[in-house]
Amino acid sequence: MTTVAALLSESPPVDAALLLAHVLQRNRAWLAAHADAEASQEEAARFRVLCARRRKGVPIAYLLGTAGFYGREFFVNEDVLVPRPETEHLIDAALAFIKGPMRVLDVGTGSGAIACTIAAETQAIVDATDASNAALDVARENSHRLGLSDRCRFYHGDLVAPVQTNRYDVIVANLPYIPTRDVPKPPDPVSFEPRLATDGGPDGLSLYRRLIPSLPEVINEEGLVLLEAAPPTITELASMLRSTFPNFTISVEKDYAGLDRYVKAFGQSSSGLRAG
Ligand SMILES: C[S@@+](CC[C@H](N)C(=O)[O-])C[C@H]1O[C@@H](n2cnc3c(N)ncnc32)[C@H](O)[C@@H]1O
Repeated sequence: MTTVAALLSESPPVDAALLLAHVLQRNRAWLAAHADAEASQEEAARFRVLCARRRKGVPIAYLLGTAGFYGREFFVNEDVLVPRPETEHLIDAALAFIKGPMRVLDVGTGSGAIACTIAAETQAIVDATDASNAALDVARENSHRLGLSDRCRFYHGDLVAPVQTNRYDVIVANLPYIPTRDVPKPPDPVSFEPRLATDGGPDGLSLYRRLIPSLPEVINEEGLVLLEAAPPTITELASMLRSTFPNFTISVEKDYAGLDRYVKAFGQSSSGLRAG
């Protein structure tokens, strides 16, 4: 199964319309209503270059320089993973929990889609880390464009290392989780995304295996942890969290396709359960 948006974007005529609208700085409705409008030679040449790159498999989001996520447009380029619709489930779970100016950490922020969305939807103060400086440039640009620079801070480094003296109410991570042998090759669009954003090691859980033991130092006792991974690895991910957080309530949550997609772990307050 896949999303309606993904299916539409796989259709060459739809891609062509999106790319032409981008080159002409119009929308697709305008194209439909102005089939006889003239494009300059320069516009036609730029359009043909984009179509040729798309035929090779380059993700449409890189060609357009933008990707939609949770109702906002995010600047993207080849330095970041294109934000995925399934990751919006993590946002829903985080928003159900966050009250007021809670402190949130997004580990492996990429384009900043998770960090910026949480900051935009709440009053939270959001920190985010990434091992890629180029990705952090994109994330900072997105927080600036969305007017969130005062509540989003971005740190370069490994997992939680740059923020290990802090404590958070919510920690979210969508780390690379494709097993190395399964990382796609061209012309699969995923092959054009940074290897650092896709390759999760031999079983897809290498990054999480290093991240989880470091979480008790940075999560509040009544905090919420949300980790996205590949459906076949979710049971193992949940059991890793259970061992590290014996007092937390752990559940496996599904994506739009009904596939196990992320694990939710939250500490129980004396007054009862807090996570929705
Ligand atoms: C799957 S992408 C997710 C990006 C973004 N959070 C999203 O959901 O669209 C994983 C991100 O983790 C980053 N990353 C990989 N290894 C890392 C590490 N050891 N420490 C911090 N970030 C890392 C990658 O650079 C990439 O931006």
